[in-house]
Amino acid sequence: MKNYKAINWNAINDEIDKATWEKLTEQFWLDTRVPLSNDLHDWRSLDDDHKWVVSHVFGGLTLLDTLQSQDGMAALRKDVRTPHETAVLNNIQFMESVHAKSYSSIFSTLNTNEEIKEIFEWSDSEEFLQTKTKKIYTLYHDDSSPLKKKISSVFLETFLFYSGFFTPLWYLGNNKLPNVAEIIKLILRDESVHGTYIGYKFQLAFNQLSDAEQESIKGWMYDFLYDLYANEEKYVHTLYDQVGWSDEVLTFTRYNANKALMNLGQDPLFPDTADDVNPIVMNGISTSTANHDFFSQVGNGYRLGQVEAMNNDDYNIGRPKK
Ligand SMILES: [Fe+2]
Ligand SMILES: [Fe+2]
Repeated sequence: MKNYKAINWNAINDEIDKATWEKLTEQFWLDTRVPLSNDLHDWRSLDDDHKWVVSHVFGGLTLLDTLQSQDGMAALRKDVRTPHETAVLNNIQFMESVHAKSYSSIFSTLNTNEEIKEIFEWSDSEEFLQTKTKKIYTLYHDDSSPLKKKISSVFLETFLFYSGFFTPLWYLGNNKLPNVAEIIKLILRDESVHGTYIGYKFQLAFNQLSDAEQESIKGWMYDFLYDLYANEEKYVHTLYDQVGWSDEVLTFTRYNANKALMNLGQDPLFPDTADDVNPIVMNGISTSTANHDFFSQVGNGYRLGQVEAMNNDDYNIGRPKK
């Protein structure tokens, strides 16, 4: 075995690693700090079809964030170019667990135990959701092509998540469920950094390939995108036909598929642009925050923890206070 090397943050090989680490750690957040119960009044005003859509959209997103946290980042970590990239991927992996957990916080606020059980049975078995998850999972576990792993990760985060993100953004644009939407905006802001960073690492490796190798990867990438889109159409119809939103969701999905290609340094595939997306949803997607205190980078509805100094009594757990 060669000597094991300590990570040195004073000798940075790639400034993008350091900048990404700083950005991600600055925007750290936890689901437990968002006052979700303030959305209960809005939730109770929805009819059953719309409640079903919201819950199952989040069931689907839970599955995809579980995939990222359990398999995605571990797969990418095998192909790093620098030790600092490993550190960034470690951060991303933890945040993917936060994302996956945050939907459970939404469920425990809005849904009954019976409903929660049904949502997870659905996400663990729904055909088109499982299809996309398995396609990405398979590529994550194929070590023969590091570039295909990166493409899979960017397609998942910048394209496949958005059929789900549509719903909370639509409600936000209509002044409903603002705290649920705040969680999604915090997730979106993370995903936008993840997609850009992993896309950038893809481009570094892609640019070192011969013209013929680049053409081959490109061909595969566009075929894979078509394949995922064909499945996504079915998934979107399954989720949204009952509320009549399918066409709008698919426009939004195609717009984000183009953004995924852009992250990978490639030309767009679909004619859809931001102008074609429902403006209410585009408003919601703006991840900027109106809050300007020192903690503003963590968003609007996000509450600082209530902290008080500890005293000796705090250790008397279960015993009456003196
Ligand atoms: Fe995520
Ligand atoms: Fe992510």
